[in-house]
Amino acid sequence: MTANRLAAKGLTLAYEDRTVVDGLDLEIPHGKVTVIVGPNACGKSTLLRALGRLLKPRSGAVLLDGTELSRIPSRQIARAIGLLPQTPVPPEGITVADLVSRGRQPHQKWWQQWSDADEKVIVEAMERTATAELAERLVDELSGGQRQRVWIAMALAQETDVLLLDEPTTYLDIAHQVEVLDLVRQLNLERGRTVVAVLHDLNQAARYADHLIAMKAGRIVAQGAPGDVVTADLVREVFGLASVVVPDPVTGDPLVVPGAPWQRPGQPSGDTAATGAVGETADAPTE
Ligand SMILES: Nc1ncnc2c1ncn2[C@@H]1O[C@H](COP(=O)(O)OP(=O)(O)O)[C@@H](O)[C@H]1O
Ligand SMILES: [Mg+2]
Repeated sequence: MTANRLAAKGLTLAYEDRTVVDGLDLEIPHGKVTVIVGPNACGKSTLLRALGRLLKPRSGAVLLDGTELSRIPSRQIARAIGLLPQTPVPPEGITVADLVSRGRQPHQKWWQQWSDADEKVIVEAMERTATAELAERLVDELSGGQRQRVWIAMALAQETDVLLLDEPTTYLDIAHQVEVLDLVRQLNLERGRTVVAVLHDLNQAARYADHLIAMKAGRIVAQGAPGDVVTADLVREVFGLASVVVPDPVTGDPLVVPGAPWQRPGQPSGDTAATGAVGETADAPTE
């Protein structure tokens, strides 16, 4: 048993006079993949940035091993917590290899700028994200998906026990989305990394999360194992969306069929079951 390393106590986050998160208590399960879901503007990025000390709490605190982040030297935090923001901005004119290398900065010492160990970590991070062939390219000139993979490589190169990823699959096509999520899972399994990711896709969230947090208007509406959390009632409460939740026929995880029960325009009613919907087991929305 290892204690949870990252937690928040009475966390209040605000921009000038707009309070986004108010008195939030949170424990990030150690060595697990936590996924945060919720509608646009509910405070997911704000919360993640506070967990990564990019945003200072108005009141309350984020705790790393029981100590307030504000009392820990930046370098020490950077060796423990890696944050990939939702829209990171690369330094102008930087190459892919140089950007990924910056992930090593928190580990470097003034008397030894660059080591073989650093080199090895960089090469591995670039291989795992399929960015090695982009090494000499300018980050500014990459496609959105390529750039996203480079940022992930940089976060990997930082080799932190805790990895915070804000919508890491944005801009990626479906194959690269799955690749990134599989990579996250692998890092978690092989290296015991604690991951907190904001994901947009509820079904991917249900599939990749050990622990799912559903947020609405800065509050946690529900959290726990995806199988317990993802229900049609929750989808309605959090997103205001009617849906049917069925077990994924392949993985058994909850599968959200949005907008259901679905009827193609012009089709006679009652056809849904015949077209393959798992009607019997459906967790149908209730009024
Ligand atoms: N830098 C900022 N300055 C002022 N308001 C902000 C800033 N960033 C986000 N907000 C506001 O805070 C709220 C939560 O935003 P955010 O955490 O980005 O939501 P999410 O990531 O869930 O979409 C929104 O109302 C947004 O407009
Ligand atoms: Mg966001």
